[in-house]
Amino acid sequence: MAKAATPKLAVAVSKAGGLGFIAAGYNSDNLEDLLEEAEKLLLQESTPDLKIKAETEGKGPKFLPIGVGFITWSASLGKALPCFPRYCPAAVWLFAPANGFKDIISWADQIRKATAGKTRIWVQVGCVADAVDVVEAIDPDVIVVQGVDAGGHALAQGASIISVLPEISDKLRELRPDPLRQINMIAAGGISDSRGVLAAMALGAQGCVLGTRFLASYECSVTDGYQKAIIDASDGGISTVRTTIYDKVRDIHGWPQGYDGRGLINKTYVDHVAGLSEFDNGNLYREELNRGDAGYGTDGRLTTYAGTGVGLIKKVIPAGDIVKSLHEGINAALYWRGNASRL
Ligand SMILES: Cc1cc2nc3c(=O)[nH]c(=O)nc-3n(C[C@H](O)[C@H](O)[C@H](O)COP(=O)(O)O)c2cc1C
Repeated sequence: MAKAATPKLAVAVSKAGGLGFIAAGYNSDNLEDLLEEAEKLLLQESTPDLKIKAETEGKGPKFLPIGVGFITWSASLGKALPCFPRYCPAAVWLFAPANGFKDIISWADQIRKATAGKTRIWVQVGCVADAVDVVEAIDPDVIVVQGVDAGGHALAQGASIISVLPEISDKLRELRPDPLRQINMIAAGGISDSRGVLAAMALGAQGCVLGTRFLASYECSVTDGYQKAIIDASDGGISTVRTTIYDKVRDIHGWPQGYDGRGLINKTYVDHVAGLSEFDNGNLYREELNRGDAGYGTDGRLTTYAGTGVGLIKKVIPAGDIVKSLHEGINAALYWRGNASRL
């Protein structure tokens, strides 16, 4: 999550048994600093479970149990690449190429070469056609199937994971009938607790991505005002909307055709719908920045990307506790099901 997913957050998630991602985001300028910070944190936190090999310099390649995400229409592979053999992150997440998925062939090829295949290639898609294109272009290790409920950017037109995930699953089985060559699918979009994870598993996902939930964690770098807006929001299908206005007022241009972002509805969006020009809306946005934390919420104007699962989030808590509660909820449900089948 660009500007939110810091090394501190990624390490806390991995330490708790998930796989945390650092956002390299729109550019890769400070990737080396981010990975160095993550490495330091991992060495401090080192437990056998994390399989940190950062200290093995000289005895073999490092391996950091975290991932790195890139917005590929704007990030630079050339700048990012030298970091890969040096840090060997467990996974790279590629999203939104400018001209279709052939654009990420060089990303996948060069990263695989740089880490001898140790860095797994994850690609985020939002529809069946894109999933097929990705498989044909780069044979990814993981496809992240992101439904329209997700916070932040995604395809403007799409379906929720409840229909798109099983359809992609069926299509991938057609493309890859060999059970030993199945591609892992991870579900994203609208999942805030273990009930969502269990539902995604029932749809055929091997794992889940949670974004919005982690915005309300101690380790996330968003402001207090942003976190308060997340906690205050309810009824996510009503309180959030997909739009491009939240990029335009922040002078972010260049998203490929067909993408927008889901965020909490605030005055920027309400005025946009009422006909306020992008220029005037942008000026009001810049003025609102002076209000700091008070600029968030329904009466504010500051962009607050969030998914429809926002209404399930009630407290800011440590990221590790979020992962732990997901594991507990999943284990309890599976245990109950196991026992119920014996009745
Ligand atoms: C504030 C925010 C920023 C995000 N930034 C990115 C990004 O830079 N790149 C990306 O691939 N996905 C981004 N996402 C999407 C997340 O990676 C994730 O797939 C999504 O949040 C999952 O849906 P959920 O928010 O409903 O949990 C962002 C999401 C949020 C909420």
